[in-house]
Amino acid sequence: MTLMDCSFANIPSSVRIVEVGPRDGLQNEQVLIPTEQKIRFVQMLAEASLPVVEATSFVSPRAIPQLSDATSVIMGIERLPMTEYSVLVPNLKGMERALEAGVRSIAVFTAASESFAQHNINATIEQSLANFQPVIELARQHTLPVRGYISTVFGCPYEGVVAPERVISVAQALLEMGCSELSLADTIGVANPRQVVEILDRLLSAGNVRIDQIAVHFHDTRGTALANVLAALQMGVHIVDSSAAGLGGCPYAPASAGNLATEDPVYILHGMGIQTCVDLAKVIAATRFIALFLRHATTSKYYQSVLCARW
Ligand code: COA
Ligand code: ZN
Repeated sequence: MTLMDCSFANIPSSVRIVEVGPRDGLQNEQVLIPTEQKIRFVQMLAEASLPVVEATSFVSPRAIPQLSDATSVIMGIERLPMTEYSVLVPNLKGMERALEAGVRSIAVFTAASESFAQHNINATIEQSLANFQPVIELARQHTLPVRGYISTVFGCPYEGVVAPERVISVAQALLEMGCSELSLADTIGVANPRQVVEILDRLLSAGNVRIDQIAVHFHDTRGTALANVLAALQMGVHIVDSSAAGLGGCPYAPASAGNLATEDPVYILHGMGIQTCVDLAKVIAATRFIALFLRHATTSKYYQSVLCARW
């Protein structure tokens, strides 16, 4: 085996990109985006063949005013048959609103550090898990898949270092409750590739967590997101979260920057011969569209290169 075969031995032949721009991205935008434009953005992302588009969030409108139009967004989307339109749900009230709107896929969210859970969802980790019990039960009754986000896996804005044991116990609890997928989030963008490998190794060797249940979700605050994705792929992960244009940040994580921009992993994956099904030119079109409404530059390197190539 050559050195190259060896380093890429576990890399999957295809990767599922979970587009979180309309939710994780827009929730942190200061400018209120009109509902019609959010719907258009979601539709453009679906037209780009992104397999999952996290379209909005049924959280408290007081907590996230930007996404208070969740029902109108979901009901306004002309759905494509191959796209999974997922939403974030924090509690039973959110779940009931989501079901009324016709949602078919949900995500619940907690954290690996107590202080972040308290700031983000006003609950201890244990309380948050208890709150999800009826949500997941309803999802099961309606045969909806449930993703579980774990924030602050690689570091917390309030506590700093997070012990891997915390991540493992929250991960196991979410899976036992019925989540079919876990998204390990680097909420503040502090992770490095070695840490990614270590956490994944600990999770996988702790038993009852399988590689096909794990997604990675990196914010690019310090420019490390793409390197971290590569490390995760080398461990065999094949589900990657990203956000068109690199939108995002977290309202409860001061100074956190946007998500890894969808254009950038798609470009690198295709270059490496790894399939995603995503139409990069159409992602660029979606980015160009949403960029018109933002009061800041977008962070996608690939998008910037496309803009420069025009001059
Ligand atoms: N949808 C709409 N309204 C909701 C709601 C939901 N999912 N959950 C709670 N509310 C309303 C309640 O009806 C109540 O309204 P009232 O004061 O008019 O009676 C009010 O919000 C407070 O409800 P409570 O159950 O006490 O919740 P809370 O204030 O402790 O908030 C969360 C808990 C989790 C609902 C809230 O913190 C939240 O939505 N956070 C979102 C955080 C987020 O999205 N972060 C970014 C993603 S990582
Ligand atoms: Zn995020």
